[in-house]
Amino acid sequence: MATSFEPGSTVWVKTPETWAAATVTSSSGGNYAFKLRSGQDFKLDAKNVSRDTVMPMHPTSVTSVEDMATLADLHEGAILHNIDLRYAKDLIYTYIGSILCAVNPYKKIDMYGDKLLKSYNKRALGELPPHIYAIANEAYYALWKTNHHQCVLISGESGAGKTESTKLILKYLSTMSNAESLVEKQILESSPIMEAFGNAKTVYNNNSSRFGKFIKIQFSDRGAIEGAKIIDYLLEKGRVVRLNPGERNYHVFYNLLTGGSREEKASLLLTSADNYRYTKMGGVLSDPSIDDVGDYKSVRSAMITMGFTPEQSTDIFKVIAGILHLGNIEFVTSGGAQVKNRTDLANASAMFGVDDGQLGENLTSKTITLRGESITTPLDGAQAEESRDSLAMALYSRVFSWIITRINKTIHAKETFLSVGVLDIFGFENFQVNSFEQFCINYANEKLQQYFNRHIFSLEQLEYQKENISWADIDWVDNAECLDLIEAKLGLLALLDEESRFPKGTDETLLQKFHERHEKNKYYIKPRLAKTSYGIRHYAGDVQYETAGFLEKNRDNFRDDLVLLLQESKSDFVYDLFEKDAVADSSKENKAGARKKPTVSAQFKDSLSSLMTALGAAHPYFVRCVKPNMKKVPASFEAPVVLNQLRYSGMLETVRIRRAGYPVRRVFDDFLYRYRVLGRGVKAPNDIEKCKAVLRNYDPQGKDWQIGKTKVFLRESLEIVLEKKREDELAVVLRIIKSRVLGYAIRRRFLKIRRAIVLIQKNYKGFYGAKQFKQKRKAAVHIQKIYRGYRARLLRARLLEQKRKEEERRREEIRRKEEERRKEMERLQRENKTRELEELKRKADEEARLEAAEEERARQANEADAQKAKALEAELDAKRKIEDDKRKAEEEAKRRAQADVKRKAEAAKLAAELDLDDGGDEEAQGGIDKGAESDDEEAESEAIDEYKEGYMVKQGGRIKTWKRRWFILRDGTLAYFKGKQGESQKAGWLTKQGGAVKSWKLRWMVLKDGKLSYFKSDAEQEECLGTVDIRKDVSGIEEPAAAKSKCKKDNAFGLITTERTYYMFAESAEACEEWLAELKAIRSKTDDEMKSLDSAQVDFRNAQGQVDLVDILSVGSTNDPTRPNTFAIVTANRVFQMQAETPQEYAEWIRVLTPRKKHAGDSDQEILEKGWLVKEGGARKSRKKRWFTLRKDVIYYHKDPYTDVAIGTIPLNSLCSVVPPDELVGQNTGSWSFFVHARRRSYYLVAATQADATRWVSAIQEIIDSKAPIETQTEKLIAELKTAKVADVDRIYSSYPILTCGSEPLKSSLLPLPYGDLSLDKTGARTYTTLFEEAMKISQYMVHPEYIVNPLPLIQYILQTCFDLPKIRNEVYCQLIKQTTDNANPNSQISIRNWQILTVLGCSFLPARKYVRFLRFHLKRSLDRYPNTEVAKYAAYCMDCIQQTKYRDYPASQEEIVAIQTQKELLITVLCQGGRTCKVAINSFTTAGEVTELLKRKLNMERCINGFGLYELSGDVQKSIEEKTIVVDILGKWEKYKRAGYVPGADGWRLVFKLFCVHEVHTRNLSPIELEFVHAAACEQVMARRFPCDENQLFKLSALMMQYDMGDMDPGIQFDKQCTDFKKYYPMKVENTLANSPISLSALKNTMTGTLRKIKSNFDDSQSQEILGIKAQLATEWSKLRGKGNQMALSEFMAILQSWDGYGCTIFDVENPVKEKNIPKNLWLAVGIKGVALYKPGTRECVASYGYETILSFGAPVANTYKIVIDGQGTVTFETTKVLEIAKLMKAYINELVRRRRAGLF
Ligand SMILES: Nc1ncnc2c1ncn2[C@@H]1O[C@H](COP(=O)(O)OP(=O)(O)OP(=O)(O)O)[C@@H](O)[C@H]1O
Ligand SMILES: [Mg+2]
Repeated sequence: MATSFEPGSTVWVKTPETWAAATVTSSSGGNYAFKLRSGQDFKLDAKNVSRDTVMPMHPTSVTSVEDMATLADLHEGAILHNIDLRYAKDLIYTYIGSILCAVNPYKKIDMYGDKLLKSYNKRALGELPPHIYAIANEAYYALWKTNHHQCVLISGESGAGKTESTKLILKYLSTMSNAESLVEKQILESSPIMEAFGNAKTVYNNNSSRFGKFIKIQFSDRGAIEGAKIIDYLLEKGRVVRLNPGERNYHVFYNLLTGGSREEKASLLLTSADNYRYTKMGGVLSDPSIDDVGDYKSVRSAMITMGFTPEQSTDIFKVIAGILHLGNIEFVTSGGAQVKNRTDLANASAMFGVDDGQLGENLTSKTITLRGESITTPLDGAQAEESRDSLAMALYSRVFSWIITRINKTIHAKETFLSVGVLDIFGFENFQVNSFEQFCINYANEKLQQYFNRHIFSLEQLEYQKENISWADIDWVDNAECLDLIEAKLGLLALLDEESRFPKGTDETLLQKFHERHEKNKYYIKPRLAKTSYGIRHYAGDVQYETAGFLEKNRDNFRDDLVLLLQESKSDFVYDLFEKDAVADSSKENKAGARKKPTVSAQFKDSLSSLMTALGAAHPYFVRCVKPNMKKVPASFEAPVVLNQLRYSGMLETVRIRRAGYPVRRVFDDFLYRYRVLGRGVKAPNDIEKCKAVLRNYDPQGKDWQIGKTKVFLRESLEIVLEKKREDELAVVLRIIKSRVLGYAIRRRFLKIRRAIVLIQKNYKGFYGAKQFKQKRKAAVHIQKIYRGYRARLLRARLLEQKRKEEERRREEIRRKEEERRKEMERLQRENKTRELEELKRKADEEARLEAAEEERARQANEADAQKAKALEAELDAKRKIEDDKRKAEEEAKRRAQADVKRKAEAAKLAAELDLDDGGDEEAQGGIDKGAESDDEEAESEAIDEYKEGYMVKQGGRIKTWKRRWFILRDGTLAYFKGKQGESQKAGWLTKQGGAVKSWKLRWMVLKDGKLSYFKSDAEQEECLGTVDIRKDVSGIEEPAAAKSKCKKDNAFGLITTERTYYMFAESAEACEEWLAELKAIRSKTDDEMKSLDSAQVDFRNAQGQVDLVDILSVGSTNDPTRPNTFAIVTANRVFQMQAETPQEYAEWIRVLTPRKKHAGDSDQEILEKGWLVKEGGARKSRKKRWFTLRKDVIYYHKDPYTDVAIGTIPLNSLCSVVPPDELVGQNTGSWSFFVHARRRSYYLVAATQADATRWVSAIQEIIDSKAPIETQTEKLIAELKTAKVADVDRIYSSYPILTCGSEPLKSSLLPLPYGDLSLDKTGARTYTTLFEEAMKISQYMVHPEYIVNPLPLIQYILQTCFDLPKIRNEVYCQLIKQTTDNANPNSQISIRNWQILTVLGCSFLPARKYVRFLRFHLKRSLDRYPNTEVAKYAAYCMDCIQQTKYRDYPASQEEIVAIQTQKELLITVLCQGGRTCKVAINSFTTAGEVTELLKRKLNMERCINGFGLYELSGDVQKSIEEKTIVVDILGKWEKYKRAGYVPGADGWRLVFKLFCVHEVHTRNLSPIELEFVHAAACEQVMARRFPCDENQLFKLSALMMQYDMGDMDPGIQFDKQCTDFKKYYPMKVENTLANSPISLSALKNTMTGTLRKIKSNFDDSQSQEILGIKAQLATEWSKLRGKGNQMALSEFMAILQSWDGYGCTIFDVENPVKEKNIPKNLWLAVGIKGVALYKPGTRECVASYGYETILSFGAPVANTYKIVIDGQGTVTFETTKVLEIAKLMKAYINELVRRRRAGLF
């Protein structure tokens, strides 16, 4: 010992566990005594004291350090001590380099406040005391520093604080993100929801996460949180149904039960946590650390923040409540397990929205479907409990997944952002008993450990080596081999998977395989003794795993029948939970079912590996959580507990490597770039030297750095220094840059302002100058004005003066002239020339007047002219406008009318075409040229045939003018016409004689609505020249022969009217014939026929031109800016330029015209199958041998293998199907034929051998399976509507007219319908063609107004089709929804009729779930849209109906349809046993069970003791009706039989109310009415000879019946007169009594009963002698009963019956197939309340009897065989036709026993 220790000094001493900190208490003679930090005393003898046992403690360990990489003492004791010291001071965080170690304080420490949080912002690691915030900060800023994803891995034991740390990181990130957006809040709020549903109190942690999670927070490049993604791992669902003592179930149950309001709980039928098995199993209901009430509130509010709708939240809690109720269901064993407490069952069912009877049934029995047959086996008690628990687990785990998915949906963001991931996953687990879950969990931890190791150690060392860094290797344990053991090829996981797939695999065989394969692996432990476990040497220690339950858990099978039950749930939520579960079904319908579901371990492995990929792409930070003690208390540091955690988390090695290593490394460039501010002025020849120079400045000794080959290696401490320095330097630089930038910016601003000022000045000056100028100008003008005025006035005065003078002068002149004239006149007078004088005067006057008038007129004329012109113009304008409007209106009306007519025409044409489809015979035409094949072996194009028509403008002609043409695309041909086509029955050119001169003119004739109109040309706007009404005006037609003689033209005919005969002739004889036929047809039609013949076909011969789609090479936009919507169609020899009318039309035309992928020519595809097959084809069904090849998408057939050109192709898509050959037919006939149902038709193919056929069938099937499902527009829209916001709904509807009401039949189905010729199936009563055609037919009925008056046959037709072809149901529903959506006239008769059909359908069956939801949505929308209308009435009623719709077999009867139409109940009459009748009101959903209850109430028999039921009576055959059966379904069945011609018995079909089972043999407590029923039943039994007795007793019984019915016998009257039909009272001996003979329905049809009656009467006659004897005997016996009242007779009668111990049982004839000697072959099986017994027929000799308590199960393994399993005695098997009845009766009795037991009756 080199040093000696003074007492009081602190040292390390080696204890058995580890190095422990201690204080020397005494030292004497080399012996030391220490006080350990834990308080214990420890002694060391002198001989044991050495450097290996005692060491001085370095001051760093004495005071504790923040980063353990700086500890001088390097052993685990030092780390432990350091943590301990810090923990004692509430310093729970400590670094090891960049790794954070966090110790759970188990108390609130004031270190998470906002102020502190913000102080960590942008601080380097190590600058501030260790904190989880520092790690979060580091990760956050590293995003931008490195432009890399970051992740934080938080590990530790359960309760170590992982989840808390995760939450703190999230809190930090969201504070830093500082976006204050909703999504941030939502991410934080996801925690309370996930914790409520995924956390529970365990012994280790009161808030233990029972699932792993990886949260990826995604950031925008501005640093704000954009969204997040949560991935969850392996929820421990077993916890829902099993709890260890001291543990609780998931928090949510207790949250709800304690935090839910009273009303809420009442609505969920809940009470308190101590009442539910699942919550009280662990014995703890609450914990002071858990605030259930508060948590419930936060969950509810978080759900709101998360955007859960109120319905979604309610639905979730409904399932949670349902699980609680489910857990309370208990079972009793009695003939298999039976539900003991029906209230819990009912409650659970109500919560899940399923039928309680069905749920009970599914919990207690198991149904599996094998080869189409479903087989039900009862379960025993333990199995029933298991099924209950598996249901609870499945529901819970799905709710959890649903919630995670829902949360992700809310918070998700695009994947492109950088992210910080936080992994909070279960720590390593090692319990007393470890199971499958622990195996998975530890596997995950092993994987994470590897990641940690790789990151910290191996990659590190590798890097050092590569870079030539001198470095001491650190030992660490590589766990790669252990991982190999688990996950490598043939590793444990692979073996587990293999065994799980193997149906016979068990946990034992699995273990055996494990042992065999890995016994020698050093990481595998084969226990020496235990036979049920194996062990693995994990990095954290050895763990033993119990294999029991491994396979079961790994398979995670959830029974199909339970899935089906939940898929039937009324709750959409529950349905959604199970929507994706494909039920494995051997029938090929369900393709998804064929694919195997991956096992739990495989899924887990996959999710782990994708996690590892995500982690691999990110830079990691590690947080190691440590739990200080197991007691979950603060201030308690249990060293061993912590030490254990430190050891397996590799903490010590981490410290070592961190100390020794250089965690920071940068390539030289990067280093120099980053630290260039520190290297300013450094002169060095190269980068390395430059780096060195920089580093030496800060660490001259080179202690903390090394230079590698490409990189600089730094210790974190040095990096911190460098970073700090860099920041300081940068701050200086920053200041300079800032000042420059600021200077620049300010100068720029100054210049800008100056420019602005100058501009303002300029503008202002301009403005001011302009203003002044204007003012001055105004003034000048004013002055000018005044001056000019002055001048003008002067001028005026002068001019006036001048004028005045002039006038003066003129007047003077006139006066002078006058004077002269006067003088002249006087002179003339004087000269007697008076006449002349006068003439002269007149002339002069006239002259003056004319002059003035002329002047005036010229002025006026000018004015008038101008006005007139104006008026005329106005008038013309107005006229033009009116005309224009009128023309437009007319055009519009005309177009509409034409469109209507045309649409109808199309519909009819389509229908006609569909009927005509598929004619011709390829072979008949000989040859194989393309044209000849086309009508039979047509080359199909995969695309659905497009149909489209409309106007387009087409460029054409030599001068390339644009012309508007009518285009029709049909049958792969695009044709164009001058005008719109299709509205006429016939159109064409004829030459017509007309006019006064009877000239011949070529006219365009259009035959429409029974009228023949003629036009100048076929252009659209052409004016009609005349019209002849063929039906009204034409009295006869002149045939060509007669016409020729009259008008001398060939191919002519005449139309005779009262006024004249119209002659016309056609180009050819055929054309003439066609016209004549058409005209005659119209004349012979009735009015009704005319109506229906509202259209005819478009005649492509009238087309101006056409293009075949197949010839089109490409279609593309021409982008002509002057002409919008133009495109070009390119064919091999032409280019067509087109212009569509609207952008929509444009897109649609391009879509339909664009060439599809062609099959021909792609023969380079690989041939998958080839060979000769015989193909049947053509109308004559001739068979030809063809060479077939199968490629990826198509089947080709060729004449022989050598011809390349195929005769035909069969394209395959997901709607095709292939029907394999019938084995029986094949074997009998040797013809192995199969069908391929393709789009155009079904192919009948024959293979040579069975093997060939099978090969072909499976190859084709495989291709069909591989095709992507076809999705129609309707489906897309339904999907869109499902998620649409309310505000968007109307928009969606309006933009997609396909979902709204149309006035014409559909041209293609709304949903994809499987192809196939249904007539080949030959199953249905009616013959069908294809689903597609049936759908089209139905769509026609929906728009036809004819059926308004009596829609019943139509409704029944549609219903029947839907029942016969269930695959069409969704389509029909969609069609009806379409027709009732947004109808322009919602209250029209046709709309109401469609509503009625929809309602009747709703009462009969529902479509697939997806469409139910759509339907409900539709009904609700209609209700809101049309309140208080007829439509609303039907919508509401239908809504009500679809809530109740139950399974039915038959379409509704007429009676029922009427009831539904009027929304009333249906009144039915039920016959009661004994003769009464009773009327009850039922609806479409009333079950037989409900009717029974109704009748009991009516008859006052509610308290009846025995069991009653409803029977179906037809003739002599009675059949009991299942309680669940819908009564109207039976009415439907009868109606169907009646229509099919079956004849029921004399009374028709009746419902009878009867005694079903006898619970009490004694009659003393029975009410009189019940007694009557019992008596009647007893009589029936006697009459059926089902009561064993001798003949005397039989006579006695008969007499008693007579006495009861007729009273005393009158001895005076002949017996025959008193009892007209003695056979009513005495059962004649007929070997096979009718009542019990099994009469099948086909027998019924043959009126077998009638035949039997005849036989019977013959038989009677031959025994007339015997009959006389019987009558005499009866008379004697009857007379003996004289005086007995009918009650007496009854009791006496019953007493006799009760004397037999078999009374009360129902007797069935059975055969014993085992020919044992002592048991006869024919037996009576008596089923009663006590059990079942076997009697020798007709005797009281009981062969065997079995009580129900000994019966384990019963049922029918095969048809007509009944099997009962008896405890300890094996099985008893019979043959009988009454299997169902027997089982039903036994079940009824067992139910009664269970009921009694429950009621505590025994
Ligand atoms: N930093 C802390 N401050 C205060 N208490 C804490 C802290 N960390 C953990 N705790 C306490 O420890 C309990 C358990 O922590 P937490 O739920 O985070 O453990 P866990 O590691 O997630 O365990 P599990 O694996 O079981 O889910 C918490 O409920 C809390 O009471
Ligand atoms: Mg947790």
